[in-house]
Amino acid sequence: MSFPSTGRSADDILAEVAQERADDLDWRGGRAFSLVYNVDDPELEALQHEIAAIFLHENALNPFRYRTLLRMEGEVIDMACSLFGASAGSMSSGGTESIFLAVQTARDHARARGVTAPELVCAETAHPAFAKACKYLDVRQVLLPTRADGRADPERFAAAMGPDTALVVVSSPCYPFGVIDPVEEIAAMAAERDLLCHVDACLGGYLLPWWERLGEPVPPWDFRVEGVTSLSADIHKYGYAYKGASTVLYRDEDLYRRQIFMYDSWPGGLYASSSSAGTRPGPPIAGAWATMTHLGEDGYLRLAERVRTAMRGFTAGIEGIDGLRITSDPDLSLFEFGSDPDRTSGPPVDIGGVADVMDDKGWNLDRQQGGLHVMLSPGHDKVVDAFVTDLADAVADHDADRGDEHVYGGVVDRA
Ligand SMILES: Cc1ncc(COP(=O)(O)O)c(C=O)c1O
Repeated sequence: MSFPSTGRSADDILAEVAQERADDLDWRGGRAFSLVYNVDDPELEALQHEIAAIFLHENALNPFRYRTLLRMEGEVIDMACSLFGASAGSMSSGGTESIFLAVQTARDHARARGVTAPELVCAETAHPAFAKACKYLDVRQVLLPTRADGRADPERFAAAMGPDTALVVVSSPCYPFGVIDPVEEIAAMAAERDLLCHVDACLGGYLLPWWERLGEPVPPWDFRVEGVTSLSADIHKYGYAYKGASTVLYRDEDLYRRQIFMYDSWPGGLYASSSSAGTRPGPPIAGAWATMTHLGEDGYLRLAERVRTAMRGFTAGIEGIDGLRITSDPDLSLFEFGSDPDRTSGPPVDIGGVADVMDDKGWNLDRQQGGLHVMLSPGHDKVVDAFVTDLADAVADHDADRGDEHVYGGVVDRA
């Protein structure tokens, strides 16, 4: 498209977008399992629309100009610190930025002790944001196979930790299988060697405290674990805020200070910021604050209960279908399921073919290398029976896999 010579009316633009969006993924109906967290709470959604509009044009780059945003951001960080037991941290635009900041902080901490070729040790289930951060920040990533249960292997971690290790990373939980790494064991090994240990709770951070309160078994994973030095948790995932809101947190203020950037070697005055962005939009900060304070503990507990209902229904339904198997034993509300290799009652299920049928029925399951990925939000509690019925039908009657690629967050349009 070339640059338009004349502008178009607002009505025209809105009509075009409305028409085009009719084909976009509809997450409200509970038929999508990634990218959007369907809270199914119209009151919260109305509040989010309103608060976003109020702060639409404000810039949090210099927060002292926008004191309301400054206060909100401070309170979001305070709430996060109290939830996870941190002492300092900042907001960022998302999980990837939080991870970048934690890796940069650890790299600079390692450099300060004389490390010239810093390394990051993680399991191969760690989110790609770590590989991306390593690429951008010139850190060598040491990727380790997991144990058979999909969790990080402490023995392999012990062998991989060395004098150049800048950061040891564990996930709580990892995205592909929804399992929590053995945080206590690995963080203790890192602490023994005086190394930093980051918990990636981007996905689970804002759900796990409520999951635990509901009485679900949750192994220790946050700053209550000695040896955990930093943690990332996204408010725009199970914190139920709209996109652009994450937190990166530290056990020690001194470590957090390595994240802060200050510059006055130019004629434009002192420039200071605590995350990688310059100009920062106001709506994600205001939206995170409004969401957390609107929901409160009772609201988050209520939503966690709905997620648990969905999780119980989905897992029981899938386990009840002959030929399917949940890949691991998930600790939270997401998992992979695939063809059961031990099936004796018939030929193995072609899980790609099942996914094709589910696509045709309007379900949007992401394909992973070993099966299909399910991540559940509160709104999925309304579709348990419909999903299980369609899945059972798809297993009973499907063709060979059409060959859609395994793509994080959805299929590639082959047209
Ligand atoms: C475990 C985990 N870490 C990090 C991220 C990256 O978060 P974002 O996509 O907000 O950058 C994700 C995203 O799903 C994740 O699941």
